[in-house]
Amino acid sequence: MAEAQAGGVPAAPRGLWYLAMPGTRLRRGTAVHRTLLDEPVLIGRDRAGKVFALRDICPHRAMPLSAGRFDGETVTCAYHGWQFGTDGVCRAIPSLVEDARDSVRLDRIGAGPYPCREAQHLVWVYMGNDHLGDGAGAGGGDGDGDLPAVPEIPARGRPGIAETLYLDCHYDDAVIGLIDPAHGAYVHRNWWWRSSKTLTEKAKRYAPSDLGFTMVRHAPSANSRIIRMLRGEKTVEIGFRLPGVRVEHMTLGDRHTYVGVTAMTPISEYRTAMHHVMYWSHPLMTLAKPLVVPVTRNFLNQDRTAMNRQREGRKKSDAAMLLPDADTPAKWYLALKKELAAARAEGRAFRNPVPETVLRWRS
Ligand code: FES
Ligand SMILES: [Fe+2]
Repeated sequence: MAEAQAGGVPAAPRGLWYLAMPGTRLRRGTAVHRTLLDEPVLIGRDRAGKVFALRDICPHRAMPLSAGRFDGETVTCAYHGWQFGTDGVCRAIPSLVEDARDSVRLDRIGAGPYPCREAQHLVWVYMGNDHLGDGAGAGGGDGDGDLPAVPEIPARGRPGIAETLYLDCHYDDAVIGLIDPAHGAYVHRNWWWRSSKTLTEKAKRYAPSDLGFTMVRHAPSANSRIIRMLRGEKTVEIGFRLPGVRVEHMTLGDRHTYVGVTAMTPISEYRTAMHHVMYWSHPLMTLAKPLVVPVTRNFLNQDRTAMNRQREGRKKSDAAMLLPDADTPAKWYLALKKELAAARAEGRAFRNPVPETVLRWRS
């Protein structure tokens, strides 16, 4: 842990898509500042609805572009009014007199664009390996590899809930907390969930999957009260993949689906954004939304409180005991990151280190 936490956000793997924000929070013709992996990024949606991401620093004299204006087509810097297209290329420099214009190649001046894509109302930004700083692209092209897969919900693409919380903890601790199966009864003490008095033994089958692992489809635990309330045959599959994306896919009978996406995106060394997005098809859940929203927020806040408290301990300790089997997903996460780095350094294909196995724990 100590090694992983040295300086910047080195623990966060590069060359991957990171969830930057829920797309429902980004209106047409607006652009907002975000920090991703310690880099200032301007994320916007043009007039036509297409998302884009630029380095949030003006190549003229480093004014954050987010301090300027975006009219749905062009970003205008707040300092001297230089204008940039959504591709980051400079379009105009107002201070140039007519005959000086030919001497400046505007197309050579740019606020480096980041590959940026939107799928199912989630905005992903590709954090490339070769960020070159001012005016340079962040990995170039369209970004490598696929976006983390999120199962579609027919006819209802829009998420019912999209929340972002900020945790004052290291990215590794945030991700490990996300895939930790043993904290539920202690961190989430709610009447509608479960209590530490009802710990039961769990045995779940896991399989390696794209840059991560999957708890294979099974009937969900009967000791969660809220799950018992839903009628119909239930199945759930929970996938995790680098950089820190957890996708829960639940089916209810043969008609209804629920998908929950939780993604950890590092901001700086001890600040991590936790995005939580929920999609569902069941009309009852839509009806219950005024109840679901505060319950979800409460749940996420419990995680945040735990992570922030752990961060206090982290200031004095690198404690990272990983016991079988409840801590095995954490071990896998660290192994996945190590293997990704090794595969890239050696220029070979990624070999998933996760075995097909059954994990057993009490929760
Ligand atoms: S700093 Fe942006 S236009 Fe001068
Ligand atoms: Fe939790």
